[in-house]
Amino acid sequence: METPDIVDLDWENLGFGLVDTDFMYMAKCGTDGNFSSGEIVPFGPIALSPSAGVLNYGQGLFEGLKAYRKTDGSVLLFRPEENAIRMKNGSDRMCMPAPTVEQFVDAVKQTVLANKRWVPPTGKGSLYIRPLLIGSGAILGLAPAPEYTFLIYVSPVGNYFKEGLAPINLIIEDNFHRAAPGGTGGVKTIGNYASVLKAQRTAKDKGYSDVLYLDAVHNKYLEEVSSCNIFVVKGNAISTPAIEGTILPGITRKSIIEVAESKGYKVEERHVSVDELLDADEVFCTGTAVVVSPMGHTEDRMGWTMQLN
Ligand code: COI
Repeated sequence: METPDIVDLDWENLGFGLVDTDFMYMAKCGTDGNFSSGEIVPFGPIALSPSAGVLNYGQGLFEGLKAYRKTDGSVLLFRPEENAIRMKNGSDRMCMPAPTVEQFVDAVKQTVLANKRWVPPTGKGSLYIRPLLIGSGAILGLAPAPEYTFLIYVSPVGNYFKEGLAPINLIIEDNFHRAAPGGTGGVKTIGNYASVLKAQRTAKDKGYSDVLYLDAVHNKYLEEVSSCNIFVVKGNAISTPAIEGTILPGITRKSIIEVAESKGYKVEERHVSVDELLDADEVFCTGTAVVVSPMGHTEDRMGWTMQLN
């Protein structure tokens, strides 16, 4: 990609808020299960029937990935095929057709290139890419929608947490649960995110950065934070909750595991208890939006606290 012009934005103060960009990508799929070739259209509102499956029954998935600008002006995507595969897996759980991996990656490339001037300068943030797969067809009785829309929009972003790269503080939630065995916690369906808003708002009102959820069966093992996975470090061992259907298989999580193992750390994917968290040397969260965020402090209703910094 050749050196582009860059829009004039306050790059130093980018948070994680929506900045409208120029274009988005849209493709449709009817009952035959094949998506149209898709097109780049101006960014803006979309028309939906009030009876669309996504609006009435939450039949929808989203993805999140990032593009970065290199110093030579070219743009890099981080593991987009992993997002394509995750969307495909989630679409099966949500009874939706999905774009192929090739179509997904090609659509991401087209969208980023069309909005290239919104990719932040090197070191000033990234272009967050948000693919959506939604049941856009009208349906009244509970059933899969008759039409689907695959849409991608983008926004330049900086740090997700207001703490920036400084440690975040989490409250351990033992009252609300994010996901239960057999549910949809392991796929990136939109309802998983609406359902954590109440706990998250309560936590933020109390001054916490976010919420750490426990498993719904024992109320004892770590699951994940509202928007990211969690890792606990003790000596040379790094432990993270295992992917058993209730935890989102994060792509940053997978990448950190691969990097840690290549650096000689012992990585364990297993049940990790709250007690282990409280006894850890270090705790950090991973996600596309949060990247890698160290945890500085945690507290739960029992009054157990842990200060890590
Ligand atoms: C991401 O990290 O891309 C996510 O999907 C988290 C989202 C809640 C911002």
